[in-house]
Amino acid sequence: MSELPFKELESLSLLRDLPNPKPQPSDKRGYGELASLYTAFSLDFAGSLLSKLAAHERTEIFDPFGGMGTVGEAGRSLPLQVTLNDISPFASLSGLFRTSQRDALLRAFDSVKAIEFDESSGNEREIFLTAIREVSASEEPVISWMGSANDEGCQAELLAVHLLCLIRIETHRSYRGSNPTWTKKARGEEISLAHLDDARSLVLGKAASYVASLPETHLDFKANHSCGDVSDPRLVDGQFDAILTSPPYPNRTDYIRHYLPGTELLIGGDEAAERRLREDQIGTPLIRKEIPNPQLPESVVEIIGKIGAHESYASASYYVKGYQFYFADMDQTLRNFHSWLRNDGVAAIVVQDAYYKELRIPVPDLLIDMAAAVGFKLEERLDFKVKQALSNLSAGARRSAPKKHVQETCFLLKKA
Ligand SMILES: C[S@@+](CC[C@H](N)C(=O)[O-])C[C@H]1O[C@@H](n2cnc3c(N)ncnc32)[C@H](O)[C@@H]1O
Repeated sequence: MSELPFKELESLSLLRDLPNPKPQPSDKRGYGELASLYTAFSLDFAGSLLSKLAAHERTEIFDPFGGMGTVGEAGRSLPLQVTLNDISPFASLSGLFRTSQRDALLRAFDSVKAIEFDESSGNEREIFLTAIREVSASEEPVISWMGSANDEGCQAELLAVHLLCLIRIETHRSYRGSNPTWTKKARGEEISLAHLDDARSLVLGKAASYVASLPETHLDFKANHSCGDVSDPRLVDGQFDAILTSPPYPNRTDYIRHYLPGTELLIGGDEAAERRLREDQIGTPLIRKEIPNPQLPESVVEIIGKIGAHESYASASYYVKGYQFYFADMDQTLRNFHSWLRNDGVAAIVVQDAYYKELRIPVPDLLIDMAAAVGFKLEERLDFKVKQALSNLSAGARRSAPKKHVQETCFLLKKA
């Protein structure tokens, strides 16, 4: 790949005056009407940073933890090539939806409107799986062929599949617990055709308003999509000018579970596949078989030591393992970022502090130390106060440290 000289980055200019990454009411009125954006950053934040990157001729952008696809929607009116990846197939299809042309989206609406839900197939999940086979003409689970999301032919089918996932999520609203990261699993429930039709009308109505509000794509905008574990090194070294992303935090968030009614449809209800996806998530609440032991900076080793030595129940035997997995995964991730970026490429990373009981885990500081150890230098840093901490969503977490000071940080790394 040729290495054209970049326009010089003005020192301390990329993050200056960026808006707060916290999702805004406008985000909730947009794609947030269709799926929860509980760990997303705001369109405004992503759009401001992408405009600056475009102005500095950094046009090959990668979000390896694409989530609901905010970077994709924010980039669609700019001359950028945006690549979105996520381990969650539901997240990957959200990214496809938010970066698609309006006419492709409207065609998907028509095919979903035309579905005649087939009650004879039994329980509600089967009804949705049958509908998916109708719009996609494939017997295989969607996850096995969604790698073709970049082919125009398959895009139309995947957009219709995504609408069906959103409709199933709508029919599962009552399965959400008080902790928003947890959605109960439906087990063979029945559903009436009237309920299905109401959910379809509601979702298609909201989706139509959302699509009407989307800007046309820039002539030079292009989006690529992949669904996979960030540790899977299928990418070319030096491929990207910039990474803009918000990785998971060590707070046991289960993204697969949160969007489960959608994900289940994409993996064809395969429980072993669901378990694998949940285990492979960074920050997973599940315990994997192997405990990793990479060389990590002193600051990280010290925090892991404090968690292991905490007096609370099962800190040493159980909870510390989650932090060992998290920091080992993020170490490998930062090494990959370093390889995937061109020389002089930049990585803008957004993360929040986390807490173990009352112990503050300064995640941004720790990731910055880890990034330095793999060959990055810190260019800029911007801290924002946070009202609703992601590590404080459960009642138990709120009890153990009711007055947590939490901040969200955006930091910019450059290859040293
Ligand atoms: C903080 S969210 C990103 C939110 C995103 N910025 C947005 O605006 O919606 C982190 C994402 O990382 C994904 N993720 C977790 N583990 C992963 C892994 N091993 N490989 C790739 N993606 C992963 C999760 O599915 C989740 O969507």
